[in-house]
Amino acid sequence: MSEEQTMSQRPEGLSETPDTSVDISVEEVAHLPEGKMLEVDDVTLRFGGVKALDGVSFHINTGEILGLIGPNGAGKTTCFNVMTGVYQPTSGDVRFLGEPLGRQKRFKITKLGIARTFQNIRLFHNMTALENVLVGADAHHSTGIVSALLRLPKHRREEAEGLDRAHELLKFMGLERRADELARNLPYGDQRRLEIARALATNPKLLCLDEPAAGFNPAEKVKLMELIQSIREQGYTVLLIEHDMRLVMGVTDRIVVLEFGKKIAEGLPAEIRDNPAVIAAYLGVDENAS
Ligand SMILES: Nc1ncnc2c1ncn2[C@@H]1O[C@H](COP(=O)(O)OP(=O)(O)OP(=O)(O)O)[C@@H](O)[C@H]1O
Ligand SMILES: [Mg+2]
Repeated sequence: MSEEQTMSQRPEGLSETPDTSVDISVEEVAHLPEGKMLEVDDVTLRFGGVKALDGVSFHINTGEILGLIGPNGAGKTTCFNVMTGVYQPTSGDVRFLGEPLGRQKRFKITKLGIARTFQNIRLFHNMTALENVLVGADAHHSTGIVSALLRLPKHRREEAEGLDRAHELLKFMGLERRADELARNLPYGDQRRLEIARALATNPKLLCLDEPAAGFNPAEKVKLMELIQSIREQGYTVLLIEHDMRLVMGVTDRIVVLEFGKKIAEGLPAEIRDNPAVIAAYLGVDENAS
């Protein structure tokens, strides 16, 4: 993790209104084929005796917001870890745009177009907000260290474009005025949104958000969900882990429910709400726990 730090939870209000009129779309995303973007196919992941995922299958369609829900310990974060190369499945496959991810490393998967945020915020705390976003932008640059050292024109062009895009993303997320502040000095809500800006800077096709509204008050949560919908409207596909059932119902197109590592339901929000297995899984569970 080196410089990356897990930030403490310090809920505070939004300091600046996101400007969702800023165009943050990217061309590659606009021309993606319809249908299944990502497929999780019969994935099992064991940690010693624990099956964190047990024969889980679901898919994410291009352009949708898919909700991934379930009680504590259900396997939601583990699913993200399997999709982003942190862990290899014990058995089963994850396919992205038809290609198995296999044993690809994390940075390769980022380059393919899957970006994520973390349940516990991870930012470079001694870098500014802008620098944190630029780190994300670096992930998809085609020029390497040699052209950077030689200051070749293509590298300089990519650098300038990266800077413009970083500012656009900050503006979109309501962080432009924070650009030069150190990440560790930002209010908690700004840190959460900065993590999303950094993920978007990698030009993802699929944006995976692990409880992005954890620690927010109800009004902040609603605002963040609106922002996530605006991100989708710009052409991104979103996978959203969220503990709060009511919140997830209002923002997602479809929902997949996990419990004890197994998929127990999948369907439209209204179907999930009335599903007896889902109701039983959530009975007695504090929806605000994270
Ligand atoms: N690295 C690991 N080593 C051992 N067990 C793990 C590891 N990561 C996760 N687990 C176990 O796998 C199961 C699923 O955990 P996971 O973090 O995916 O749940 P979750 O649905 O994200 O829960 P939460 O809502 O609390 O974030 C849990 O039993 C957890 O203890
Ligand atoms: Mg989790």
